[in-house]
Parts: sequence; C-alpha cells; structure tokens
Amino acid sequence: MTASSRHTEMSHPPGDRGGRKQQDIGGRLQFMQLDANSCASIRTLKSLVERELPVGLDKFYAQLRQSPEVKRFFSSEEHIARAKGAQMGHWTNISNGDFGDDYVQKIRTIGTVHARIGLEPQWYIGGYAIILDHLITAAVEQNYGKGGMFSKPAMKTGDFAKALASLVKAVMLDMDLAISVYIDEAEIAKKRLRRRRSSPSADWYAAVSARPWPRSLPRM
Ligand code: HEM
Repeated sequence: MTASSRHTEMSHPPGDRGGRKQQDIGGRLQFMQLDANSCASIRTLKSLVERELPVGLDKFYAQLRQSPEVKRFFSSEEHIARAKGAQMGHWTNISNGDFGDDYVQKIRTIGTVHARIGLEPQWYIGGYAIILDHLITAAVEQNYGKGGMFSKPAMKTGDFAKALASLVKAVMLDMDLAISVYIDEAEIAKKRLRRRRSSPSADWYAAVSARPWPRSLPRM
C-alpha cells in the first residue's frame, strides 16, 4: 500500500479517550504540499538518514545531558538508550515517506508520552533542531563533497533541494502532530476539571490545568 492511499483520517488507537480532535492527516499533507512525489523524494535520502541519524541523536542526547531541565526526565543511561532506540524506530517511517496509520499511531504515542511526563514543546522542538541540523549538514556535505558547492553534486541541485525541503516538511508535520496531542491532553484535563469541580481533588487539578502545558498528568 502506498503512503498516500493511507493518508486518511487517523484512526483512534484502542483505549483512546473520546473527545479528541480528529487528526486529518490527508488535509495536513495536502496543505503543506507533501504529496506522493515529495514522499518519493524523502526516500532518496533514506540511506543518508540511516547512516547519520544515530550521529544526530548522539548530538541531541549530548545536549540533553548538559541540560538539567530535560536530563531529569531520564533515570539512567539505559533509559536514554531506550528513548533513542524508540526515536530511531519512528524515523524509519519518516525516511520511508510513510505517513500512514502506523506512523500516526506512533506519533500519537510520542505526543502522549511527552505530555504525560510534562515535556514542554520547547524541548521537543529544540531536540528536533539539533537532529535536523546534523542531517541537513551531512546531506549537503555528501551531495556536494568536501569541494563545496563547486564540485560535481551526486544529486541534481533541484532534486536535492526538493528532497531536503520534503524532509523538513516531514519533521514539521511530526512536530505539529505531537504538539496537537499536547493540546488535546490539555483539553481533556480541562474537561476533567469541569467534571470534578465538586470533588475534593479539584484544587489540585485546577493548579495543573492553570499551567500552559499538561505536566505530569496522571492516568485516569
Ligand atoms: C529534550 C527533548 C526530549 C526529551 C527530554 C524526551 C524524553 C522522552 C522520555 C523520557 C521518553 C520515555 C522513554 C521511556 O521511558 O521509554 C520519551 C519517549 C519517546 N520520545 Fe522523546 N524526548 C525528547 C525529544 C524527542 C524528540 C525530538 C523525538 C523525535 C521523534 C522523540 C521521540 C520519542 C519516542 C519515539 C519515544 C518513545 C515513545 C513510545 O513509548 O513509543 N523525543 N522521550
């Protein structure tokens, strides 16, 4: 099945709580002009992504280890290794230009996990900035070689530009979807608050929902 044939409205995973906004992947892809050609274009960078993603992730996690605000989310190096492994798995879909159901379920889980631990979008977006920095730099170096822009490129400039631009669009889609989950979670928390106004725990929920993003919301 092609990616585009599965660009339908996302299905809610089992156990998903009601009331969430439908995430119209097809509409998003269409608006950002990430079409079948763009997805094919992303695939031309697949081997580069496979080779360079671990290096980009190492740079990201090196930065994370130096930043107490985000290092605190990890209990050990093994914990970091697990998150890194999960991130690599998610990138398989991205570098395949595959934004079908499997991809959507994964990004939904990522958003939910991040929202539950209280990771603000600032850090998620910042993390992506480091990863993308590495991937783009590595791709330009690979295409134009050490001789810079004047040596013979491996891919035609137009094709290469399209591939890079499509990859950036894919990352933006990813951020949009993950952050939409945060917004959904915040709405769910507000609804819970309304329902529980009369209960003794209402004050606690009021304190949590008054903050800009859901932080460490418990499973209900
Ligand atoms: C400073 C930024 C970030 C922090 C602190 C962070 C933190 C975490 C933590 C603590 C987990 C749970 C790991 C576990 O217990 O197994 C996690 C899961 C995950 N994160 Fe992040 N993350 C960040 C950025 C990102 C970015 C940029 C991506 C890009 C795709 C990403 C993708 C994932 C994935 C795929 C999972 C696994 C979700 C699952 O359970 O299936 N994270 N993250």
